[in-house]
Amino acid sequence: MKNICIALMICSAFLLGCTNASEEDLIDQPPQLPDPVTYVDHVKPIIDANCLNCHSDPPQNGAPSSLVDYGDVTNGYINGNLLNRISGQPGDTGFMPEGGNRLPQLSIDIIEKWETDGFQNN
Ligand code: HEC
Repeated sequence: MKNICIALMICSAFLLGCTNASEEDLIDQPPQLPDPVTYVDHVKPIIDANCLNCHSDPPQNGAPSSLVDYGDVTNGYINGNLLNRISGQPGDTGFMPEGGNRLPQLSIDIIEKWETDGFQNN
């Protein structure tokens, strides 16, 4: 009987140890970037949520261009310095979203990876 108790204690300590370790693993894991990143699934939701109150069609609040579809956003990326604008800090010249907070780093990384993955639409 005593041996069974000890065995159970060792087992549960082992199980708890495993549980703790896997929680730490989850916390330590870097956020997963989608692979591949596509406009429809990953980029559009970020732009829609953060940019369209100015870059609508037609644009408003002084924005010079709309960012409502694939063509607009690739154009903004290639010709409008889009990645550098969102990668800076609030207060930097040309920072986007204008007057807003910096996007979460994961969102910036997703938009950067979109270029690496070849600007896929969907
Ligand atoms: C509050 C309004 C506002 C929001 C929100 C906003 N922008 Fe802008 N955006 C502007 C204005 C005004 C300009 C023109 C001034 C400048 O170039 O800095 C501009 C210019 C740009 C340009 C250059 C466009 C061109 O045709 O030269 C890009 C690219 C851009 N914004 C991307 C974004 C992105 C991406 C977001 C969302 C993360 C965003 N903006 C959110 C107002 C806004």
